[in-house]
Amino acid sequence: MKAWGGRFQKATASQMDDFHSSIHFDCRLAEEDIRGSIAHARMLGNTGIISQQEAETISAGLQKILDRVASGQIVWDPGAEDIHMNVEKLLVQEIGVLGNKLHTARSRNDQVALDARVYLRKEITVIQRLLTELFQALLTIAEREKETILPGYTHLQRAQPVLLGHHLLAYFEMFRRDYGRLQDCLKRTAVLPLGAGALAGTGFPIDRQQVALELGFDQVAVNSLDAVSDRDFVAEFIFVASMMMMHLSRFCEELVLWSSMEFGFVEMDDAYSTGSSIMPQKKNPDVAELVRGKTGRVYGSLMAILTVMKGLPLAYNKDMQEDKEALFDAVDTIKGSLQIFILMLETVVFKRDRMLNATKDGYLNATDLADYLAVKGMPFRMAHEAVGKLVRDCISQGKRLEELTIEEFKAASDLIEEDVYETLDMKNVVKARSSYGGTAFEQVALQLEAAKSWVDSVK
Ligand code: ARG
Repeated sequence: MKAWGGRFQKATASQMDDFHSSIHFDCRLAEEDIRGSIAHARMLGNTGIISQQEAETISAGLQKILDRVASGQIVWDPGAEDIHMNVEKLLVQEIGVLGNKLHTARSRNDQVALDARVYLRKEITVIQRLLTELFQALLTIAEREKETILPGYTHLQRAQPVLLGHHLLAYFEMFRRDYGRLQDCLKRTAVLPLGAGALAGTGFPIDRQQVALELGFDQVAVNSLDAVSDRDFVAEFIFVASMMMMHLSRFCEELVLWSSMEFGFVEMDDAYSTGSSIMPQKKNPDVAELVRGKTGRVYGSLMAILTVMKGLPLAYNKDMQEDKEALFDAVDTIKGSLQIFILMLETVVFKRDRMLNATKDGYLNATDLADYLAVKGMPFRMAHEAVGKLVRDCISQGKRLEELTIEEFKAASDLIEEDVYETLDMKNVVKARSSYGGTAFEQVALQLEAAKSWVDSVK
């Protein structure tokens, strides 16, 4: 007999049980469910809704079930639908009829919202810890590569030289924002829905603050209808996970490109690469490709939850049971991706010579020549045009700008003097970008120091 079977004359069809039961995935919430129930039972005892003795027996029974869950002894019953009713059933088996008092002043609607929030709070903290590992890895490499010069690109065309440390710190900024987004999401996740009942609250003299305190929630949801129908925190988290995957994916795309023979800027460690079953020479950057690929599945989960929620009337609707697989998959995917990505990143070898050589062709110092003329008084637009013509000449002669003779330079503009060769030197080109946040050595060193102390402050 079902826990809700009183008003039914017929048993549910077995296909119906298979279709609506969620225990095969929400069993992941067992610990959260039981901890929430223990807090609820204690509150029922403290407020006199049940006796203290009853509350203690219920809590002890739940604790035993928790131990059995932890040691993997429990076989979940699909007939009991979901994790909430499975736990209740086990409780009745454990302590007898008294177990039936646990659900006083509570509904599965506020219960499931609580479980998801407890789960997500824990996972957000785990993901933030992984992010701090990524920060460390990025900072270590940025420090090591703070003098390495490589081409910076726009439109994937060589543009101006930048420091590899600067390039890596750009990713640091993306992930730093993600860290903040998680922190923000955590605030809205740490709101206690329990006590909303099915939708309208309860007539029992419950104490929601006490439950919040016991479960470490900062706030209590202020509107019972909202409390049971709100899945914003799920959508918000999956959005943040999507954004993180997007950042990882862009990084991965660069590593895939950079590990190609065409770029040859990096070599992946053997331990994080794979070969081909037919082509003996192949070494493929699978980690980067897979992380890039998995970004799609997290976006898929985001679309799923947004679409599930979009037409739902207040308050709880069974559609919302679809939130959990999307949430779990997003959590698993972002954690798995971060873990392997960090390992891969830590072992990537950056090929400094290849990077520096790549800055030599493609006129990456052309802007500097235009700036040189502008400093000497030529309006920038004219300087741009003059250098554009010089570049065109160089292309037709197969020369670099710094290979032009001083006479050739002077023919373009008599403002140009011998010191132009200094200006065009790649190291000086980097040095010149000394505006705040720029790629100049001392600017990158400042960014690096500031990044390090920020990481220390969140560690
Ligand atoms: N398994 C349900 C879910 O995941 C729990 C809440 C069910 N409530 C209900 N009234 N059927 O959403």
